[in-house]
Amino acid sequence: SLKCKIGPSILNSDLSQLYAESQRLLDNGADYLHLDVMDGHFVPNLTFGHPVVKCLRGKIPHAFFETHMMVQNPEQWIEPMADASVNLYTFHIEPVLKDVLPLCRKVREAGMKVGLALKPGTDTEAVKQFIDHADMILIMTVEPGFGGQKFMNDMIPKVQWLRHNYPLLDIEVDGGVGLNTITACAEAGANMIVAGTAIIGARDQKSVIDSLREIVER
Ligand code: DX5
Ligand code: ZN
Repeated sequence: SLKCKIGPSILNSDLSQLYAESQRLLDNGADYLHLDVMDGHFVPNLTFGHPVVKCLRGKIPHAFFETHMMVQNPEQWIEPMADASVNLYTFHIEPVLKDVLPLCRKVREAGMKVGLALKPGTDTEAVKQFIDHADMILIMTVEPGFGGQKFMNDMIPKVQWLRHNYPLLDIEVDGGVGLNTITACAEAGANMIVAGTAIIGARDQKSVIDSLREIVER
């Protein structure tokens, strides 16, 4: 059966303390780390890339790393991220609609799982034909680029549609997810939950992570 997993986004943490912040999240019960990679083109913001991810991997050898590639050219970073032992390579389909299939193949050949991400304005129809070649679909519940934005309720039907048609698919939600918005996501069928500020900003990270997991599991 489908496992429910909580993957904190470290985007809004103190990035000068990336390792300590990441380790703290894992110690507090994070199932995986959601690493937001931005290139300043696909989204109007910059974060970090494979050199930083590789350093983090050096200090955290065993945790499951997802890189959320908010980049114009996802093909360019497949090998470097595989070299950083990334487990799940999630890229947006919007800039590469004609090449999604070969990209899925390349990601898998590089030894990683494939996630396909959809911006709020992209319909699930656009990803349908690729689902059999992917391990996970990410439904963005904010416009990608920044943490701390408001959850978009009108993304819920996309999750419902996916879950209805693909009972065994891993479905991730990302953006504005916290204790007040997770119930809708869970009821719609999301099983991989990204939360940034809701966890990073909490005084007691562990209790927020525990509560999020409890809600998705019931
Ligand atoms: C937004 C990122 C998200 C974001 C989540 O572009 O993809 O992962 O950091 O942060 P919150 O949970 O604060 O929206
Ligand atoms: Zn993200």
